[in-house]
Amino acid sequence: MQLRQWIEQLPKVELHLHIEGSLEPELMFALAQRNGVKLPFASIEAVREAYNFHNLQSFLDIYYQGAQVLLQEQDFYDLAWAYLTRVATQQVRHVEIFFDPQTHTDRGVPFETVITGLHRALQDAEEQLGITARLILCFLRHLSAESAMQTLEHALPFKDKIIAVGLDSSELGHPPEKFTAVFDRARAEGFLTVAHAGEEGPPDYIWQALNLLKVSRIDHGVRCLEDAKLVQRLQASRLPLTVCPLSNMKLCVFEAMSQHNLKQLLAAGLCVTVNSDDPAYFGGYMTENYLAVQSALNLTVAELVQLAKNGIEASFLEPAAKQRLFDELEQHATQAVEAR
Ligand code: ADE
Ligand code: ZN
Repeated sequence: MQLRQWIEQLPKVELHLHIEGSLEPELMFALAQRNGVKLPFASIEAVREAYNFHNLQSFLDIYYQGAQVLLQEQDFYDLAWAYLTRVATQQVRHVEIFFDPQTHTDRGVPFETVITGLHRALQDAEEQLGITARLILCFLRHLSAESAMQTLEHALPFKDKIIAVGLDSSELGHPPEKFTAVFDRARAEGFLTVAHAGEEGPPDYIWQALNLLKVSRIDHGVRCLEDAKLVQRLQASRLPLTVCPLSNMKLCVFEAMSQHNLKQLLAAGLCVTVNSDDPAYFGGYMTENYLAVQSALNLTVAELVQLAKNGIEASFLEPAAKQRLFDELEQHATQAVEAR
């Protein structure tokens, strides 16, 4: 089997996916029409042309604008269903999906509308596609801690549908410490915690996420290599990093894929995983991310297996479900791959 085909068929786990970031321009236009929302773009091509970002904020501005077409429960269902059916064809077996309730509640869309639509798509995916999925509620860090606390309170009646809370949006100037009380409350309510840190922000933000927010995973975290003590801590605890290679390229976190530090993170013994972040905006879903890092960093089959294994280990799945995926991965890993 050729390496490309082997990567396509690799059983995958996705742990860093913003559902609003899976909104393809075609669906954006369809929902805009269905809901009578006016878009500032003349065509689908014009939307894609606007996607040339130079940092996180330049992306977020357009990403929040796109999300305005999401109004009804069915819109959230359609969005999640489109993502899930697409990644089912990429052999994604399990996914932990971020959603940003404040992006919607601030426009008058009830929290219940968002969660009900998403959850229904997840249930259908489990039944019809054989993909397991969980939801992670992200607080927008550019908004206040009070707004985050209010959002957490909105979520409490739907606690059984949300596995964890996270932190996303504009990183610089919004350190994790701003949300210590919100995360304390979330953990007391039984949620696991994760946080975006060390994407554009310094290693200190990763320390804060670990020590103050007591996270189970760091989202991105690629700047950890600037701090040897931090690397040691992450390595010893096997605390996972959900790395998003194509996202890092599009947002100029690295100058080129050949400059990406994924291979170094792996060599340092960290539990590093491959994910897509906002695939509709960054030019690729899970398979494209794996293919891009393999070819730019010349990753070996053993390294690719380790990345996929880390994804299973880092997931919030129960042990028996993890074991089934480890077994499937091991089976896949025994297949001979042609040297190129
Ligand atoms: N929201 C969606 N994608 C994000 C990213 N890469 N970083 C921070 N917030 C986000
Ligand atoms: Zn992200």
